[in-house]
Amino acid sequence: MDTTVHLPGLTLKNPIIPASGTFGYGLEFARYGDLRRLGAICVKGLSRSPRQGNPTPRIAETPCGMLNSIGLQNVGIEEFLEKKLPFLPAEVPIIANLYAQSAEEFAQLTSQVATAPRIAAVEINVSCPNVRQGGVQFGQDPAALAEVTAAVVAHAAGKPVIVKLSPNVTDITVMARTAQDAGATMLSLINTITGMAVDIRTRTPRLATGTGGLSGPAIKPIALRMVHAVAKAVSIPVIGIGGISTAEDVLEFLLVGAHAVQVGTASFTRPDRVFTLVDEVTALAESLGLSSWEEFRGTLKEAGQ
Ligand SMILES: Cc1cc2nc3c(=O)[nH]c(=O)nc-3n(C[C@H](O)[C@H](O)[C@H](O)COP(=O)(O)O)c2cc1C
Repeated sequence: MDTTVHLPGLTLKNPIIPASGTFGYGLEFARYGDLRRLGAICVKGLSRSPRQGNPTPRIAETPCGMLNSIGLQNVGIEEFLEKKLPFLPAEVPIIANLYAQSAEEFAQLTSQVATAPRIAAVEINVSCPNVRQGGVQFGQDPAALAEVTAAVVAHAAGKPVIVKLSPNVTDITVMARTAQDAGATMLSLINTITGMAVDIRTRTPRLATGTGGLSGPAIKPIALRMVHAVAKAVSIPVIGIGGISTAEDVLEFLLVGAHAVQVGTASFTRPDRVFTLVDEVTALAESLGLSSWEEFRGTLKEAGQ
């Protein structure tokens, strides 16, 4: 089977991409598998300056998932470009996930990474507070989402721009169309779903920040519903994310219209998961008689048809 995925300006050997924030800068996982075998690597969210993140505890296990409030801890863009990127294998496309608090800061960060030859695409994390608008997330306000998307596209030096959508909205298809109209090359979804866990003995939240982002198998049905709706609402490619941990999960996301997937929390359960998935998903697709992803993508027989 030909496992290649053709995206605008980006060709993947296969549809498996480790999700931002769950695979470090890639290098940390080199001992669990051959990084060159992955479709691409999406690195931890990068900001202009290094960030320490939120106070601990910032991880809480929940049924079939986990809550996190890491708070975008990262080494900062300069250290990433100088000390991490040069050590990643040239054979795998690197996607830089970006985090900023204003459209201007997003634009500046984009210029810095997009000109680095090793960066294949940028992914913008719009689940972050827009300081100018009193902390409302970019991904929750269509006007702010349009502004930040256009600013990033204008500074991306022609490289593909993936807008990573927040599920914490009333209608994600509105945000999807907004990002498309503002020039996004592709969309990825979903980021984590805001949740909470509490301790009845200490009568305190389990996370120091009170609430956090839910991820893992618990969110898969929600993610699948949103990817299905967004893939129908836009004409640009969609990358599915949310609770994917098996080859069957990957094919489910492709069936509802995704071109590729990102795998997050599953790497915490098994650090070699993304590597084994590459073989498993190909074997499963071949067992279904597929010779390419195109013949399967978006072919769900809709309910009632
Ligand atoms: C510990 C942790 C850190 C994350 N950090 C980022 C990040 O820096 N940028 C980002 O866009 N998403 C981040 N995410 C969200 C994931 O990339 C992914 O969208 C989400 O976890 C859902 O996928 P999953 O259920 O496969 O984990 C993070 C998730 C986790 C669990």
